[in-house]
Amino acid sequence: MNQDRQKKEAAEAALEFISSGDVIGVGTGSTTNFFVDALVGVKSKLDGAVPSSEASAERLRSVGIRVLDLNRTGDLPLYVDGADEATHSGYLIKGGGGALTREKIVASASRKFVCIVDHSKLSDVLGSFPLPVEVIPMAQGLVSRRLVGLGGTPVLRESVETDNGNVILDVRNLNLVDPLQIESDLNNIAGVVENGIFASRPADVLLVGTDSGVRQLRLS
Ligand code: 5RP
Repeated sequence: MNQDRQKKEAAEAALEFISSGDVIGVGTGSTTNFFVDALVGVKSKLDGAVPSSEASAERLRSVGIRVLDLNRTGDLPLYVDGADEATHSGYLIKGGGGALTREKIVASASRKFVCIVDHSKLSDVLGSFPLPVEVIPMAQGLVSRRLVGLGGTPVLRESVETDNGNVILDVRNLNLVDPLQIESDLNNIAGVVENGIFASRPADVLLVGTDSGVRQLRLS
């Protein structure tokens, strides 16, 4: 079965977590796009959605789903989003699409985070996907040097400006065996807005598309 099929099936399986009248958080990326397509069929159940990027806002509007501001909704019952890498404990690397900061904000405001991935995203320890770090532009040099000091190899993502007006450094070779600690350490570097490790707010449920259907891992 191809990867897109696995993403689509995982996305469709997330529909069961929606309750009538919900305002839900919606992430960013190709897997989440399948989820937005699937939402069309249950649109009448939804009161609206809070997107994690301008791209997702646009996509939600294009299928007729009301887009709401997190400052008006308060906490949300559910956030559905993909990931670049996921462990069996629900720790994630996100930000391949550059939306990590808003993704972490919406995930943190949500009581349940359902993460939808194809089977290729699963790993035992985080670190195969280069870690995205969102940085204030004037701090790019400073943050790069600090990342090198931590053993990392940062590379500027060319021609990318985030929805927040910042740049992204993609970092290889960091030791991520203690994701909670490194998530916090990286965010303590002046100029770092956010990094793509989701350990302090991991997924509560992982829906993994496989060749033999969707595997559900309930983690909290
Ligand atoms: C965007 C993300 C995405 O969830 C992640 O990149 C996965 O993308 P895709 O579903 O296209 O594989 O974190 O910032």
